[in-house]
Amino acid sequence: MTITVIGHGYVGLVSASVFAELGNKVWVIGHTPEKLERLRNGDPIIYEPKLADVLKKNNEAGRLIFTDKYDQAIKESSIVFIAVGTPPAADGSADLSVVYEVAKKIGENLGDQFTVVAGKSTVPVGTNLEVERIMKQANPEANVAVASCPEFLREGSALQDTRVPDRVVIGSNSKEAIDQLLELHKDLPGKRVTTNLASSEMIKYASNSILATKISFANLISFYCEKTGADVEEVLEAVGMDKRIGRTFMYAGIGYGGSCFPKDVQALADTGKKIDINTGLLDTVESINQHARANFLDHILEKVSGKNIAILGLAFKPDTDDIRFAPSVYLIEQLLEKGYNIKAYDPAAMDNIKGKFGDKITLTQTALETVKDADALLILTEWGEFVNIDLSKVKSLLKTPLLFDGRNIFDPKKMKDMGFTYVGVGRA
Ligand code: UDX
Repeated sequence: MTITVIGHGYVGLVSASVFAELGNKVWVIGHTPEKLERLRNGDPIIYEPKLADVLKKNNEAGRLIFTDKYDQAIKESSIVFIAVGTPPAADGSADLSVVYEVAKKIGENLGDQFTVVAGKSTVPVGTNLEVERIMKQANPEANVAVASCPEFLREGSALQDTRVPDRVVIGSNSKEAIDQLLELHKDLPGKRVTTNLASSEMIKYASNSILATKISFANLISFYCEKTGADVEEVLEAVGMDKRIGRTFMYAGIGYGGSCFPKDVQALADTGKKIDINTGLLDTVESINQHARANFLDHILEKVSGKNIAILGLAFKPDTDDIRFAPSVYLIEQLLEKGYNIKAYDPAAMDNIKGKFGDKITLTQTALETVKDADALLILTEWGEFVNIDLSKVKSLLKTPLLFDGRNIFDPKKMKDMGFTYVGVGRA
């Protein structure tokens, strides 16, 4: 097939690469010439393990074509995916302005043949119908059907998640559109779920919201554990052994960050308020997430006596350089405001943190250099490099062996035996 993907962020570029890998010709439309040139040269721009290899291979095979022009790409394509950003607006709703801008351009460039326009961006229920209205306004003759085909990839494992999905969700009110999308996905494993347009749009928000809910629930239990002498890891391990519950995505810590959970929970709550639904659960999921960071900060402020703090881990999770809504950003802002000096290190997110804080904090080249002479060490992301760090070296380099583990990667007993003052999340 020949298809078009509009947008080359995580969702757009990874989806385009996997569809190209399956043998399709894939146009990728962007609007920044400099970025398109980098993509043509095999630089994925985003940090995602192994993506550069796939990009290079498919560029060379001529299956991926990057352009800022809609005309030829849209006319040649039987399926067009919209995979542009839907960032949170100031009131928590999803900002759909780019989705609608793109819909107008697609409409203006549609040819005579039947075209499926499928949303991959996470958008509130009803958005794809509005996309259809805008396209038909731009082109009343348009032979087009809209669909929703949400993507469930995670940063850091995006290629694998897209190549081996648990399920492929395809929603449309047009049978022809569903058939075309099933055909495009035919070589991918995973269950097929076909629904109407609204259900498909809801599936994505419901999935992200239940995952965020599990995390906030784990954090809520961690608050109880801290005040009662229970240990959250022991508690959740046993709770998760019940097959009806499961342990996945139920790890306490300093809360979820990233480009999806914070914005999607808020956007679903915003939609609920507009249609008169009690969104208390979603509002609480969000406020517990905020409290997880604030609670961790309180422990730091209470226990650290000097002013020099070392931080290991800045990305919102391992295997990414993304710091959007990362707990590290909140904690650094708060600690700077209170007059602490910060030295920090992350295997991938240094440029992004530098862009955010400039020379207000000191960025180091290695983990061990970071901890030298610090009054306390904070671990904020569970990168493998930190899980396997030489703890006796860390202890000998720290001025005070005080360690705050925001991801519960270490065993409290072992840490105590080594002579650390260890503060995990929700640990006895
Ligand atoms: C998420 C969804 O998992 C994915 O399906 C969707 O398409 C996009 O949003 P992503 O944001 O890339 O993916 O990362 P994810 O691995 O889900 O982690 C999100 C945040 O939750 C991270 O900050 C992580 O540290 C935190 N988390 C995750 C926890 O605090 N506890 C957990 O048990 C799991």
